[in-house]
Amino acid sequence: MHRLQVELGERSYPILMGESLFQKNLITPYIKGKQVAIVTNETVAPLYLEQLQAQLTDYQVQPIVLPDGEQYKNWQTLQLIFDGLLKAEYSRKVTIIALGGGVIGDMAGFAAACYQRGVNFIQVPTTLLSQVDSSVGGKTGINHILGKNMIGAFYQPQAVVIDVSTLKTLPKRELSAGLAEVIKYGLIADSDFFTWLEENIEALKILDTAVLIKAIDWSCRIKAHVVALDETEEGIRATLNLGHTFGHAIESHQGYGNWLHGEAVAVGSVMAIEMSMRLGWITEQDRNRAIRLFIRAGLPVAPPEKMSANDFLKYMRVDKKIIDGQIRLVLLSKLGEAIVTSDFSTELLNAILSTNYEQLLDSF
Ligand SMILES: NC(=O)c1ccc[n+]([C@@H]2O[C@H](COP(=O)([O-])OP(=O)(O)OC[C@H]3O[C@@H](n4cnc5c(N)ncnc54)[C@H](O)[C@@H]3O)[C@@H](O)[C@H]2O)c1
Ligand SMILES: [Zn+2]
Repeated sequence: MHRLQVELGERSYPILMGESLFQKNLITPYIKGKQVAIVTNETVAPLYLEQLQAQLTDYQVQPIVLPDGEQYKNWQTLQLIFDGLLKAEYSRKVTIIALGGGVIGDMAGFAAACYQRGVNFIQVPTTLLSQVDSSVGGKTGINHILGKNMIGAFYQPQAVVIDVSTLKTLPKRELSAGLAEVIKYGLIADSDFFTWLEENIEALKILDTAVLIKAIDWSCRIKAHVVALDETEEGIRATLNLGHTFGHAIESHQGYGNWLHGEAVAVGSVMAIEMSMRLGWITEQDRNRAIRLFIRAGLPVAPPEKMSANDFLKYMRVDKKIIDGQIRLVLLSKLGEAIVTSDFSTELLNAILSTNYEQLLDSF
């Protein structure tokens, strides 16, 4: 088993990762008191709820099973978590366990931040995306019809327990979506990781355990490092949002759940990379390497055909990185290094939003 620490002073916590962790008693040391609520969804519950519950025979356990989908990451569904907690008469001593992907983790975490002003919380992520990204770092929340992740809180878990065996049941499209965030780390923070991914992308796609654990460990290390430097995103943490300003616009415009988050991030990253190239910061060769890797990972690299520059701008105007009305973007200053900047012309942004990426791809 691998262990990695997220260093946040008194809010520090471990990320435990390995195979078949549900068989080992790793979660109970992080539970406080006797009351446990497992928040999960209709897809994940039949697969893993029983295995997790089998570890918790000494506790009073209440499963809270939500409908599955990004379109349910909202107030109404959040309320179901509070209903479950209150019906079980759970006190401030309850521990909430999130069992599922990023949608469950974000909602259960936000519920943990709010219930009786904050209760104990453990992440058990079961998608690649949640194992490398959303379960680490304490961002929790829900969507609003006018913007993604607009309502939320920073709230750190007591532990993150990653069982890579759970990825065996994950649909391939979801696995690819997770790879988008993995590739993102290479692009923004570590060109060696990017090169390693170019060499290992096929092994990752067929879930080679050793390669998978290395990729998750590498990703979590980068994320943990950035979060430790800037927990509440005053600066460097925003670089983790490469491709997300464009990507969130795609997700919102297309209707939550139609495009997967990772798919939208892949396309958004390509747009940010194209922009970085036109600013003269990265070479055409590096842009092409990035596009090729996204394609090999099974991801889209062009925005929805019918989405206009104005469609993008409508959603980009409510992005969380906006300061005093100015759109700020994460761009690459070189391969393996990112900056957050508003130092680009409106003309360039419009050109990026109006580029025909399908045509750009003809050479691939
Ligand atoms: N908090 C953060 O820092 C952060 C970072 C990145 C993304 N996010 C959020 O995460 C969400 C996306 O997360 P996601 O990609 O995990 O999507 P998801 O939670 O919707 O899970 C994807 C699908 O896989 C199913 N599933 C989960 N585990 C499974 C398993 N082991 N086997 C079979 N099916 C399984 C789910 O039920 C769902 O249908 C978005 O809402 C995004 O905004 C948050
Ligand atoms: Zn993301």
